[in-house]
Amino acid sequence: MTDRLTTKPLLRVLAGSREVVPPIWLMRQAGRYLPEYRAVRKKAESFLDLCFNAKLAAELTLQPIRRFGFDAAILFSDILVVPHALGQRVTFVEGEGPELDALEDASALTRLRQAIDQTKLAPVYEAITRVKEGLPAGTALLGFCGAPWTVGTYMIAGYGAADQLPARLFAYRDPEAFTKLIDLLIDASASYLIRQFEAGVDAVQIFDTWAGVLPAEEFRKWCIEPCARIVAAVRSRIPGAKIIGFPRGAGTEFARYLASVAVDAVGLDWSVELGFARDHIQTRRPIQGNLDPLALLTGGAALDRSIDAILEAFADGPFIFNLGHGVLPETPIAHVERLIARVRNAPARG
Ligand code: CP3
Repeated sequence: MTDRLTTKPLLRVLAGSREVVPPIWLMRQAGRYLPEYRAVRKKAESFLDLCFNAKLAAELTLQPIRRFGFDAAILFSDILVVPHALGQRVTFVEGEGPELDALEDASALTRLRQAIDQTKLAPVYEAITRVKEGLPAGTALLGFCGAPWTVGTYMIAGYGAADQLPARLFAYRDPEAFTKLIDLLIDASASYLIRQFEAGVDAVQIFDTWAGVLPAEEFRKWCIEPCARIVAAVRSRIPGAKIIGFPRGAGTEFARYLASVAVDAVGLDWSVELGFARDHIQTRRPIQGNLDPLALLTGGAALDRSIDAILEAFADGPFIFNLGHGVLPETPIAHVERLIARVRNAPARG
């Protein structure tokens, strides 16, 4: 453990240390903006086949590390492998996104398994083992899962719905059935993360991409509580497990999230004002974020200005540079190179 802490800057930050040069990785750093990703993507029948092919998933995880030398690799997979392992039909339609057999009402929940089928997820754990073999000593390996609310929105709607209307309606109309689904996802996510740690990840991130559509009371019930329970369950099996929370769009509720969810660091979306984040969030926990993916896509002065403002705001505390959400497929590779150079040269520039 001490060894890993000293050699991996990202783990040092998760332990609360401030690095002069902040470690950097990007959400969706593997993906369609990379020609080497598109070449491998062609080899697989479907996106899920890619996720469940340990050799290809390991290769895709390592691609952005080879090209850019990020401080962390994130396992190549998807949050929707969990509903798949719960027996729901999940497919990805080219150019459209995920498609699932929607859970319209309480009776549909009986179609799900009562626990995840770990045999379906075995290739994910094998991919972790393979990645470990090819990873530089200073690079951390991150696993992940979707938070119950975010995964639930796809399970209920059957697709990526605008404003997550179907799941919000379901939760208001039948809170009892919705609670059952969330409880199932808490157990499934915790056991999935535990197995990822056992396979060798250094830390994990819990993606609550759609947390921001919830009113404060629902945010507490469907985001804070489930995430707090996942963290506690994982730590009961993996003491000291390092966990990053990403409740996207939480706004002023970030502080309440941190008061109840014992994550080691929090990922901020790009809408969080830097002064607020520095004074009210970074004082509580290490921060990760929060460059607007559109600034990265744009490049030039807009990109430089955004990078510098973030570096300056978070310079005095524990900080991991990242985007506020994933890399967009149209992002030029040269802009990613420019970002990394600017972050790593910042102290020299003074
Ligand atoms: O970050 C990484 O590089 C690791 C891999 C990763 C993927 N998805 C690969 C992927 C991670 C961490 C995710 C998380 C994920 N998946 C989230 C949470 C984070 C976020 O981005 O909001 C969500 C909500 C999903 C569900 C999902 N997967 C959607 C809505 C889509 C379609 C939209 C899109 O970008 O295509 C996916 C597909 C997906 N997941 C792709 C990749 C590389 C594109 C698939 C392709 O190549 O066609």
